[in-house]
Amino acid sequence: PPLSNIINVDDFELVAQKYLSPEGWAYYSSAAEDETSKQDNARLFQLLKLRPRILRDVNSITTNTTILGNESSVPFFICPTGFAKYAHPDAELNLAAAAGKEGVHEIIPTSPSMSLEQIAEARSSPSQSQYLQVYVNRDRSKAESLIRRAEKAGMKGLFITVDSPVLGKRERDDRLKALSLGSDAPNTGIAKIGSSTLLNPGLKWEDLAWIRSITKLPLVLKGVQTVEDAIIAYQHGVEGIYLSNHGGRSVDTGQAPILTLLEIRKYAPELIRTPKLQIFVDGNIRRGTDVIKCLALGATAVGVGRPCLYSMTGGYGEEGVRHLINILKGEIMGNMGLIGAPSIQDLVPAMVNSQRAEME
Ligand code: FNR
Repeated sequence: PPLSNIINVDDFELVAQKYLSPEGWAYYSSAAEDETSKQDNARLFQLLKLRPRILRDVNSITTNTTILGNESSVPFFICPTGFAKYAHPDAELNLAAAAGKEGVHEIIPTSPSMSLEQIAEARSSPSQSQYLQVYVNRDRSKAESLIRRAEKAGMKGLFITVDSPVLGKRERDDRLKALSLGSDAPNTGIAKIGSSTLLNPGLKWEDLAWIRSITKLPLVLKGVQTVEDAIIAYQHGVEGIYLSNHGGRSVDTGQAPILTLLEIRKYAPELIRTPKLQIFVDGNIRRGTDVIKCLALGATAVGVGRPCLYSMTGGYGEEGVRHLINILKGEIMGNMGLIGAPSIQDLVPAMVNSQRAEME
């Protein structure tokens, strides 16, 4: 269909299901085991209810904000996702170009489908904000050389993924593999092949001090899932915590990130108030209202994962990604108007009724 027929974020998923190879569709859309966490990520946004305020001047609405000290046109960014080439041959080049033109930040994965340097070159302006997601290699010299490359390529921060010391069990990948190799095939889905040497089950809190000692880049821990770890992360002096369950792809039945945000509000509200720490959230962000709820509850910005991949499929490429960004931005602005919040700072906790979500 022409892009003008795509009117919401989920429409892109229908296109993707049609155009992706069976392997690509399984790899992108699947999650771990029973996919309960992936479904919960969506369900929790429905349980959170908005409390719109009336008669506030919303003639002029702006979504501008600041992420890790860098200006962004919107309070959402592109999540790091591996194997983007299933979606489009130019994969990350599309994401980088679209992000640059729309003033959106992106996080590049440790294992993109082309080099970090090529993706950096696809920036549309020198000030465009790109960050690197890091799986800290078990070999420190390899980990250090990746960080040096990130610095040299102008990455503005490191997002250290901590929710996957080992790989989640992605059964849809495994079933396809079993089909193509015969029923007694070894248990190696594409995700396992791609990530097994990247993951570092030995990583621990003390390693953060080492990373801090070798780079001045801002550090964010991606995949914080409890208030306990949010507090420890803050004590370790990171610039940000990123509440995520990896889109439900790591431990299944792991709680939705929005519940972790509610835990932090309840048990460690000082983490939300302090200007020293930024909080990011992802997991099934598909609507402007999803973004608004996270921000009202204390997040600085949120990540969008699968839809960015889906938006490049069907040959849409860069234009698809730009259309996706504009759909989400339009929904955010429209709903900010409807709840009486003309700027991001006007999104406050009292705009969200979290009673039902808190009973989870
Ligand atoms: C991911 N994600 C991910 N995260 C990460 O830190 N490093 C990675 O290499 C990947 N790779 C990856 C591949 C694919 C296909 C998906 C769908 C996801 C997780 C990603 O950054 C993000 O946390 C979730 O995707 C957010 O959830 P939604 O928006 O996809 O529901």
